[in-house]
Amino acid sequence: MDDVLKFIQRRRSIRQYQKGAEVSEGQVETLLRAAMSAPSAGNQQPWHFIVVRDRAKLEAIMQIHPYAGMLKTASLAVVVCGDLSNESFNRYWAQDCAAATQNLLLAAANSGLGTCWCGVHPRPEREEGFRKLFALPGNIAPFAVIAVGVPAEQKAPADYYDPARIHSETW
Ligand SMILES: Cc1cc2nc3c(=O)[nH]c(=O)nc-3n(C[C@H](O)[C@H](O)[C@H](O)COP(=O)(O)O)c2cc1C
Repeated sequence: MDDVLKFIQRRRSIRQYQKGAEVSEGQVETLLRAAMSAPSAGNQQPWHFIVVRDRAKLEAIMQIHPYAGMLKTASLAVVVCGDLSNESFNRYWAQDCAAATQNLLLAAANSGLGTCWCGVHPRPEREEGFRKLFALPGNIAPFAVIAVGVPAEQKAPADYYDPARIHSETW
């Protein structure tokens, strides 16, 4: 039990990466397998992932997203998207994509890779920018962009535990 807590707390947002460092296709596949192992409403798995290594596209993302400057040194980005076409379950799409995103971050930490989750949804101007840049079909919504790379900074594990946030039986 302590082990899982220590592991989860070791994941931190990393914003400086070793420029040009290799992150293999096999490593990326592991991250995407972890992402797609997430729970989802009705087990509908509405997620799609765009793996972006092209530097011109990474630059273009930085033009759209004001807080994604860490992509400058990242080896790649993963754009997490949701498919809204399932009318019975599409209200949960963002929650499903968030679960997939967190799984990806944890798998990356386990592989010694650094990541940073950059929010896209629900900011309309960012969503619009991603829609255009990646020619997303109408039923596909961009959720987040995750920077991935070999860390060039170290961060101590974070323990955000706060007993004041816990309520017993009622508020
Ligand atoms: C929904 C969401 C959106 C975020 N967006 C950004 C972002 O745009 N840029 C950024 O540098 N970090 C972003 N972060 C990372 C947070 O700043 C970070 O998780 C928080 O400061 C806690 O630090 P830690 O991840 O190292 O524990 C985002 C995190 C979440 C969950």
